[in-house]
Amino acid sequence: MILFLFLICSFAGQPAPSYAEDGPSLTDGEKIYQRYCAPCHGDKGDGNGFNAKTLDPRPANHTDAVFMSKRTDGELVDAVSGGGRAIGKASIMPPWGNTLDKSQITSLVRHLRKLCRCKEE
Ligand code: HEC
Repeated sequence: MILFLFLICSFAGQPAPSYAEDGPSLTDGEKIYQRYCAPCHGDKGDGNGFNAKTLDPRPANHTDAVFMSKRTDGELVDAVSGGGRAIGKASIMPPWGNTLDKSQITSLVRHLRKLCRCKEE
C-alpha cells in the first residue's frame, strides 16, 4: 500500500513516466526504431531481431510491402501506440504509447514506410 501511494505521488504531475527520460530526446525515426524495435523486428526491419527466434508469432516483417501496404498510417500508429492487444493481435508486440510521444510515433511510422518502400493502399 505504501509503495502504491509512493508510485501515485511520484507519477502525479508528470506527463510521462521517468523511465522515458531519454525517450523524447530521440526524434529520428530510424534511431527510435534501432533502440526500441530492432531487438525484435531486426536492424533492417525484416523481423529477425535477436529476440525473434523465441517469439511466437514472429515479429512482423516491416520490409514486406504486401503486408505493410495493407495497413493505413493510422492503423500503424494504433499498432505502435497500443501494441498487439489493441489491434486484436499478439500481446508480445508491446504498447509504446506511454514510452514514446505522438511525434516520435509519427516519425516511426515514416521510418516503417521507408523500410517497406510502400504507401497505404
Ligand atoms: C518484444 C518484441 C517486440 C518489440 C520490441 C516490438 N515489436 Fe512490433 N511486433 C512484435 C510481434 C511478435 C508482432 C506480431 C504480432 C502478431 O502478428 O500477432 C509485431 C507486430 C508489429 C507490427 C504489425 C502490426 C500489424 O498490423 O499486424 C508493427 C507495425 C510493429 N510491430 C511495430 C513495432 C514498432 C514500431 C516497434 C518499436 C517501437 C515494435 N514493433 C517493437 C514484437 C515486437
